[in-house]
Amino acid sequence: MTSNLAIFASGGGSNAEAIIEYFKNSDLGNVALIVTNNENAKVIDRAQNHEIPFYILEAGELEEGEFSDVLIAMEIDFVVLAGFLKKIPQDILAAYPQKIVNIHPALLPNYGGKGMYGKNVHEAVKAAGDTESGITIHYVNENYDEGQVIVQQKVSLAPTDDALEIANKVLALEHEFYPKTIASLLS
Ligand code: GAR
Repeated sequence: MTSNLAIFASGGGSNAEAIIEYFKNSDLGNVALIVTNNENAKVIDRAQNHEIPFYILEAGELEEGEFSDVLIAMEIDFVVLAGFLKKIPQDILAAYPQKIVNIHPALLPNYGGKGMYGKNVHEAVKAAGDTESGITIHYVNENYDEGQVIVQQKVSLAPTDDALEIANKVLALEHEFYPKTIASLLS
């Protein structure tokens, strides 16, 4: 059976792009909807390029607690967060138990929690002088970055890597592992 995926993204959407491309060649999933809270997000262009429906959330709409009805009406089976900066409300968590995943650009539980996203994470890793970073793919619960871990992958850092170089190394891992991890959860 092919699962309908909704991807939630707030920004550039390079992970969304990797997932869309991956599932063009897989019967396990079909990217049926892109959801964003940012009307200027580049992920909207990506949805249009691939002729995938998109939904721009209004301020406060997610928090009203009825967006799960939209997902259910669109026959969404599985929710993928890819750089989505808002908290997932209880109604969606209840409608999709163990069917919402997130990717975090560090090795949780390190560098997680509110405010720890994108560049902030990599700058903190750099400031700490860590010799490795990585990705964490995890189920989503009511707390930022605290759901059950599904997969982690590590990458070595050179002392000369700045935050941007760390970001690029981590993003390469994200693009490689996020689509196939989602596929394995669907199969
Ligand atoms: C990714 O690095 C993702 O791990 C991160 O935002 C970036 C989105 O990039 N997510 C978080 O920091 C969540 N706490 P993208 O828009 O190019 O996919």
